[in-house]
Amino acid sequence: MLRSSLRVPLAAATKKAPQVATIPPGQPDLAPQFTQLFINNEFVNARSGKTFETFNPANGKLIAKISEGDKADVDAAVKAANQAFRTGSEWRTMDAARRGHLLNKLADLMERDRVILASLESLDNGKPYAIAYNADLALSIACLRYYAGWADKNHGKTIPIAGDYFTYTRHEPVGVCGQIIPWNFPLLMQAWKLGPALAMGNTVVMKVAEQTPLSALHVAALTREAGFFPDGVINVIPGFGPTAGHAISSHPDVDKVAFTGSTDVGRLVMKAAAESNIKKVTLELGGKSPNIIFADADLDTAIKQANHGLFFNQGQCCCAGSRTFVEGKVYDEFVARSKDLAEQSVLGDPFDCKTTQGPQVDGNQVRTVLRYIEEGKKEGAQLVTGGEKWGENGHYVQPTIFANVNDQMKIAQEEIFGPVMSIIRFDSMEELVEKANNTIYGLAAGVMTADLDKALHIANTIRAGSVWVNCYDVFRRGCAVRWIQAIWNRSRARRIRPRSLH
Ligand code: NAI
Ligand code: MG
Repeated sequence: MLRSSLRVPLAAATKKAPQVATIPPGQPDLAPQFTQLFINNEFVNARSGKTFETFNPANGKLIAKISEGDKADVDAAVKAANQAFRTGSEWRTMDAARRGHLLNKLADLMERDRVILASLESLDNGKPYAIAYNADLALSIACLRYYAGWADKNHGKTIPIAGDYFTYTRHEPVGVCGQIIPWNFPLLMQAWKLGPALAMGNTVVMKVAEQTPLSALHVAALTREAGFFPDGVINVIPGFGPTAGHAISSHPDVDKVAFTGSTDVGRLVMKAAAESNIKKVTLELGGKSPNIIFADADLDTAIKQANHGLFFNQGQCCCAGSRTFVEGKVYDEFVARSKDLAEQSVLGDPFDCKTTQGPQVDGNQVRTVLRYIEEGKKEGAQLVTGGEKWGENGHYVQPTIFANVNDQMKIAQEEIFGPVMSIIRFDSMEELVEKANNTIYGLAAGVMTADLDKALHIANTIRAGSVWVNCYDVFRRGCAVRWIQAIWNRSRARRIRPRSLH
């Protein structure tokens, strides 16, 4: 069983700084404990009896068979969620501070099971264990605690009107929230969706991605262990998009659907929501984010940040800095040094602490990435490094860099979602702003410069939701960024030591 096979000193996992993961000694023999649907506080088989398989992307081996939820199971979960939300129910009458306490309790249990959760995440998704432990787990736990704090601080307004009258607003829960999550950050996506919905008193029917069901089911088990969340408040259904996913987005008794994933499926979700009960919709879709490096930037930092901004999580990030714009004066140096840095990536077993790049999540993603690499070559971009599948087993792709990329090329316009950096040259601010904004996306951007005026100009003129200045992918101090710095520091130490011996 999972717990007994993981002989990892849990005490070490709670050690304070330096925050380095407790690496399982080799890949542990994980047999996931929770593989069924979680409906109404119980683990149950799918009504159809069907199962599907989830694989380890590092070696292609079967990890477990998982119950495959479809419309009938979604119906049951929605019924339970509606029942939990009925007027006068335990959940509806629960004090808001208590809801915050429950979320904190869940965060405590995730902290307790951090090694198990990080192991499941790494096993199912392929991301390096150390990253899962230090970044995904830290951010997921912090997210739940953040929303726990909001639970009892959600006030309405009073609005005076003529005479002795006033009106007031009350923030009320929406009701049953359908939540459909992807595979690139399974736990974090779960936390981002569960945290706000539960803090505000909604109930949840969540469909996890078919590629990575394991960690979310473990968290579902923790909500039951906490023993406080009333039956039906949280329901987690593994299954496929066109069946279970569509059943959620088209369900007449689901009040809201929140989706993270591809743009095409986002459209389908919105359409299904419109054609059923016009439920509220939140979509978090793809990106093709510009990361802009001016010649006056600290080039050492810019090269590292651009590398991290693109290759982090095997390039499978919605906000990846996948269009790297570099000013002409430093273009050649930037390309040459980015090549060197990319070639230092260590591909391999995600459970080996030296590994910095794991496999892509599955064969489909590898095929998509390789297809884009071929497109890039055909369209005349210069392949500087990588470009091939890597290794005998598993779904690995070499870290790949294209230079001389034209902003009209497919690799500069479409989301690749893999370890492929496209470097575009610019020589003037006007040209840069026009090209950087020439995209259907608008998720994120980055700018590296020593000139505050330039940084502010870019932040104001680039049409993106988030703009990082002299950094990239910084979400919360102390997690991902500190870990990446630790990797840099270690690799620097490795490079320096041999020299000092001679
Ligand atoms: P996807 O959009 O198909 O999957 C995301 C989630 O949506 C999964 O849970 C899936 O089962 C569900 N889904 C699929 N079809 C559905 C439907 N008809 N109704 C309701 N739910 C449905 O993404 P996929 O195929 O895994 O990846 C393809 C591309 O999407 C990636 O290469 C990447 O470009 C993008 N993507 C973006 C993500 C982001 O974080 N923005 C995350 C995952 C993928
Ligand atoms: Mg898997």
